[in-house]
Amino acid sequence: MFQASFITLYPDAFPGPLGVSILDRAQRDGLWALETVDLRTFGLGKHRQVDEKPAGGGAGLVLRPDVAAAAIDSVNAGDRPVIYPSPRGMPFTQSLARDWAVGPGLVFFCGRFEGLDQRVIEKRNMIEVSLGDFVLAGGEVAAMAMLEATLRLIPGVAGNQASVEDESFSDGRLEYPHYTLPRRWENEPTPEVLLSGDHKAVKAWRNQQSEALTKARRPDLWAASRNGPNLRASETDDEHD
Ligand SMILES: C[S@@+](CC[C@H](N)C(=O)[O-])C[C@H]1O[C@@H](n2cnc3c(N)ncnc32)[C@H](O)[C@@H]1O
Repeated sequence: MFQASFITLYPDAFPGPLGVSILDRAQRDGLWALETVDLRTFGLGKHRQVDEKPAGGGAGLVLRPDVAAAAIDSVNAGDRPVIYPSPRGMPFTQSLARDWAVGPGLVFFCGRFEGLDQRVIEKRNMIEVSLGDFVLAGGEVAAMAMLEATLRLIPGVAGNQASVEDESFSDGRLEYPHYTLPRRWENEPTPEVLLSGDHKAVKAWRNQQSEALTKARRPDLWAASRNGPNLRASETDDEHD
């Protein structure tokens, strides 16, 4: 079973969105388990202090390495990587989620204030991972987002496995647009090809839309996609319909 541990000053923030819908069902089905560790219980003195002024001066407070290490060491991490969500980290991607989804689980240390003393990051081999180029108030939302993206890739978690295999980023592209009933809404029709019943034409249209969207919105993704701007064989081959 995939084990997720969160070390946090705000255990009440959990499970939050991890406790609804498919993730709730998957947890009840025994596909994953959630543990929260309250960092405050490892704090020092009467006030359970977890932070101190930054060495060298400057604004804010820094989480102490001794307190953080005691909390990390209290977790039975086993082979699970210890992730420190941090704007300085490597970017979180679908590919990283795929790697994590086949592993034993994850331990997240949710930062607060100015962040965590550098020594504990290094001594406990923490992996810094960023949710994006912006600064959150704490690591909880970032850790939950990373875990949610990972859990839905575990077989049996998503109701429809095909939906997690054929979606944005699964092949280095953004997904095509979706339509449903009614066929005409606010005078806008559903694209005719989607109502044609011609699977080959639908597939070609979706491929063309996906390509155009990726080129327009994410030229970086398009340039990096492993097959470059050429059509993949599977997209022109109706045997795969
Ligand atoms: C206010 S932020 C600290 C920002 C830090 N002083 C800096 O400039 O890089 C507090 C905590 O929020 C989390 N955090 C903030 N932005 C994040 C992001 N983009 N990705 C992942 N975690 C983030 C980290 O755990 C961080 O320790």
